[in-house]
Amino acid sequence: KATVEMLRRMPKAELHLHIEGTLEPELALRLARRNGVTLPWKDLGTLRQQYEFSNLQSFLDLYYQLMGVLRTADDFRDLMLDYLDRAAADGVRHAEIFFDPQVHMANGISLDTVMDGLIEGLRIGGERHGITGSLIVCIVRDMPVDSAEALLDRIALRVGDLVGIGLDSAEVGYPPSLFTKVFARARRMGLRVVAHAGEEGPADYVGEALDLLRAERIDHGCRAIDDETLVGRLVKARVPLTMCPLSNLRLNVVDDLRDLPIRRYLDAGVVVTVNSDDPAYFGGYIGDNYQALYDIGYTLEDLARCARASITGSFASETRQRALL
Ligand code: HPA
Ligand code: ZN
Repeated sequence: KATVEMLRRMPKAELHLHIEGTLEPELALRLARRNGVTLPWKDLGTLRQQYEFSNLQSFLDLYYQLMGVLRTADDFRDLMLDYLDRAAADGVRHAEIFFDPQVHMANGISLDTVMDGLIEGLRIGGERHGITGSLIVCIVRDMPVDSAEALLDRIALRVGDLVGIGLDSAEVGYPPSLFTKVFARARRMGLRVVAHAGEEGPADYVGEALDLLRAERIDHGCRAIDDETLVGRLVKARVPLTMCPLSNLRLNVVDDLRDLPIRRYLDAGVVVTVNSDDPAYFGGYIGDNYQALYDIGYTLEDLARCARASITGSFASETRQRALL
């Protein structure tokens, strides 16, 4: 238990967190009632039975369906506040938070409703916990490229409320190359770039994310280990990987946490960070992810290195980073 406390107290940033993935089943049912949204699952027991996933897609099906209960700015504010309360308790001092506006917009919710709620949550959570946060808009890669372009039209008006752009959702069959122009435009708008790659997709997608999207961090990056040259490149360019052990376990990216290449990445000198991805779905927040690695033999020094990397690998200002280290 002393160790739990030491892991918790390490100043850390969370760099791979989908705000919609923090929607706990209890809150989903409460919001469904509050908003008059009908879900196929009437009670918590039945809903909880849906959380057994075979792969990324089986998770995404539930995740997108439950997103339908999020309707008002207050919903998004409450979601953000619940997350920041939990993150602060795990020693998170800074968070860069993904959201999927294309899905909310398809549900008839405006970008402003979503962003106003999330930003109010960030403001209140910041005052409450001293935690800083920023938003990364994610492109849902299995929606049409036109829809991504249409999102950028809207984003242009609120670019000051965003730190970056990311790429998420079903990976295989949706290579980063599809979005080269979208990301070039986002970069011209001043957005920093990250991308999910090498979760279920091949190492080549990681290379494309670097070369074509100019990604500054790779989200997951598990499969980069298959390409030695690519690993060398990640080391040399100091590109952080935002890894999510419990997510990878629950989505069967690996059969066992020991099969994750984190040890090999650390030994090779890759910048590795530890994150929770969609904690309400994968059975643990960021502290649980650190703990799970500790439990299989990662040392406090290893994990302190990851925590430190999360701060230096963040998009926080130099001043803020110095204050956090
Ligand atoms: N991978 C891809 N898309 C996602 C994820 C993920 O881990 N979480 C939410 N959308
Ligand atoms: Zn993710």
